[in-house]
Amino acid sequence: SGLEAMLTVREFEAVAQRKLDPVHYDYIAGGSRDEVTVRANEDGFGRLSLLPRVLRGSAQRDLSVTLFGGQSSMPVLISPTAFHRLVCAEGEIATARAAARAGTIMIASMASTVAVGEVAAAARAAAGDGDPTLWFQLYLQPDMDDTTALIARATDAGCRALVVTVDSPVLGANERNQRNNFDDLPPEMACENLRNLRGDEPGNVRQIAMSPELSWEHIDWLREHTRLPILLKGVLHPEDARIAIAHGIDGLLLSNHGGRQLDTVPATIDLLPEFVAAVDGSVPVLLDGGVRRGTDVVKALALGAAAVGVGRPIVWGLATAGEEGATRVLELLRDEVDHTVALCGARGLADLTPDLVRPAAGSRR
Ligand code: FNR
Repeated sequence: SGLEAMLTVREFEAVAQRKLDPVHYDYIAGGSRDEVTVRANEDGFGRLSLLPRVLRGSAQRDLSVTLFGGQSSMPVLISPTAFHRLVCAEGEIATARAAARAGTIMIASMASTVAVGEVAAAARAAAGDGDPTLWFQLYLQPDMDDTTALIARATDAGCRALVVTVDSPVLGANERNQRNNFDDLPPEMACENLRNLRGDEPGNVRQIAMSPELSWEHIDWLREHTRLPILLKGVLHPEDARIAIAHGIDGLLLSNHGGRQLDTVPATIDLLPEFVAAVDGSVPVLLDGGVRRGTDVVKALALGAAAVGVGRPIVWGLATAGEEGATRVLELLRDEVDHTVALCGARGLADLTPDLVRPAAGSRR
C-alpha cells in the first residue's frame, strides 16, 4: 500500500496536514501561547548527540519493557490524546487495535470519543492470544463522585494503571483555537467516558472539569480508593517528584503536555537528568514530548527514562490512514529504535547508559 512509501513520522505529519480540516490540524499541532515549549521539546533532542560503543553488540536485541506487571514490546507507549474521532472514523477503536497489534501500551485519554470499555474490547479482539495493556488517563474531577464513577469505568474495562494528569489546574491557552473559534467537538461526537456518568441522566455528557483547587490530599484520597498503580503525568519540578513519591505514587510521566499547558516550560528531555536524580530509582520515570525518531527514544532511555510516550505522531498516523497509519507509525519507531540500539553497540535497553549522550557540537550546554 502507499503506507509502505512513508518512511518517517514527519511524512505522516505532512500528510495529516494536507488531509485534515485546518482548524483540526491547528488543534492537534498547536500549543499554548507562543508555542515556545512545543518547539523546545523537539529541539531538545536535536541538541544532544549519541556517542556509540563498538564491538559489543548482539544480533538479538530485546526491546521489551515491563511496567507495573504489563509488557510492552518496545519502550514507546501511546500517550493520551483527546478526540480521535475528529481525525478518523473509528476513533480510539483504531488506536487500540494499532497498539494491540504493535504489542505496546495505550494510555486511553479520559477525553476519548469512544468509551473506555469499547476501547478495551477492541484491544482484546485485535490482540489475539496477546494480552494488551491499557492504562487510563484521569483528570481528577472536583466532584469526587464523578471521579469515583470514572475510576470504576476504567477498572471495569480492565485498565491496569491510572495516569493522573496534574498539569492542568486550568486549561492551557491555545491561541490558534481561539482564532479558529474551535472550542468544542462537533455535535455528533462527545467525551463518551463522561456520558451518563452517574446513571441518573440518560444521554447526558458531563464536561471535563479542570480545577485549580486540587491538592496532594486528592492524591491521598485516590490512593485509598483504587488498587491500581497510580502514575502522575505532568510533574516537572524535581521537588514535586520527591513529594509524589512520599505520597506513595507508583510512577511518573515527565511531560509538559506537548507544550499545551504552561508555555516556556523547559523541554522534557532537558529536565530528565535532574528529575531522574531526584527520583533516585524509587519509581519508574517515563517521558513524553517531541519524540519523533528512534534516536530520540534512545537518548531518553540512556538518560534514565524507562519508556517514552508519543502523542501527536499517533494522531498523524490516524489522520493519514486510521488503524493502519497508527500501526505504521509504531512500526517505524520500533525499527528506528532497534537500528539505533544496534548502532550504539548495545545488546538491549539495559546497555543504554548516560555516557552515550553528549551535548551536540555548537550547543551551548
Ligand atoms: C494531548 N495531551 C493530552 N494529555 C492528557 O493527559 N490528556 C489528554 O486528553 C490530552 N489530549 C491531547 C490532545 C492532543 C491533540 C495532543 C497533541 C496532546 C498531551 C499528550 O498526552 C502528550 O503529553 C503530548 O502529546 C506529548 O507530546 P508530543 O508527542 O505530542 O510531542
